[in-house]
Amino acid sequence: MEGGSVFMIDQNELPFSFRVIEAHQYQDTCQAIRIMTVRGAGAIGAASGFAMAQAFLQAPKKGRDEFIMNARYEIEATRPTARNLFYATERVFNAANGSSEKAVIEAQNVADEDAGDSRKIGKYGNELIKDNYNICTHCNAGWLAFVDYGTALSPVYQAHKSNKSVFVYVNETRPRGQGARLTAWELYQAGIPHMIIPDNATATIMDQGKVDIMIVGADRIAANGDVANKIGTLEKAILAHTYKVPFYVAAPTSTIDLDCGSGSEIPIEERDEDEVLYQHGIDREGKLHEVLVCSPGSHAYNPAFDITPARLVSGIITEKGIVKADKESISLLFEEIV
Ligand code: MRU
Repeated sequence: MEGGSVFMIDQNELPFSFRVIEAHQYQDTCQAIRIMTVRGAGAIGAASGFAMAQAFLQAPKKGRDEFIMNARYEIEATRPTARNLFYATERVFNAANGSSEKAVIEAQNVADEDAGDSRKIGKYGNELIKDNYNICTHCNAGWLAFVDYGTALSPVYQAHKSNKSVFVYVNETRPRGQGARLTAWELYQAGIPHMIIPDNATATIMDQGKVDIMIVGADRIAANGDVANKIGTLEKAILAHTYKVPFYVAAPTSTIDLDCGSGSEIPIEERDEDEVLYQHGIDREGKLHEVLVCSPGSHAYNPAFDITPARLVSGIITEKGIVKADKESISLLFEEIV
């Protein structure tokens, strides 16, 4: 954030072009979250914290409190599933106590803490990765999705850095293609060997014994260890269970929502059917197109997330260590050390 504006990588333009957009007002930042210019639980959280700070900066003297409250509702309504959105908005709102300077400082603190947490997730997660491991991941939970290092990809980056040879199978992740477009782009930039696979090829590669571990991110984790993550995660968890592939979820404690007793309480965002019906891409000359990829006139159902029950999760990689996906282990993460 600089001069009241929030600067974000336009993830909708990746991997075809790299562009940073400037959101001048909190309403612009909200729109960037809604249309997924900025996406991924942590990046959404950081952006919403900055949007809250922008609202403090924009608030007029007259009707200031009402303006800020309305802004908070508007920010929180942008995307309902990602826990970090509510976490960041609440932290900035409370810390500001009416002061825009304090709001800006707290928004920056949230982003900085996210970066520190994702680095630690990488350190703990790296312990699960052996030399020559084949890793499978779904969606994008790399540095684009979670400040600086990512969650699910952070252990992969650490393993690569510590000279382990790793290979990543990247699920395409329809309909928005976060795997094919973003995870593949991140891994390519980092020089990490990988291959994009169609979403429906995961069973085959697991059946062929090609996957040693599956690591995914999370958008919200309930108190009992149920995990909300990108649509398709549940199916991968069932496959991992069937083929006895360890299935880990990487997320900081800021993604855990103790107010949600179980996954059934997590709101699941439903997005526009056009995301399923149309796809964007470039032709061989590099020209961008939007094309209809379905039967004209048919409608589509587009839930953005699903819930993986805790019993299918081998463990949760947090910034405080790796814990079991159950109520007791999760609650211990929140115990104050005195
Ligand atoms: O809809 P998105 O792209 O914002 O989806 C969120 C995600 O990036 C994932 O579900 C991810 O696996 C967890 S976020 C670190």
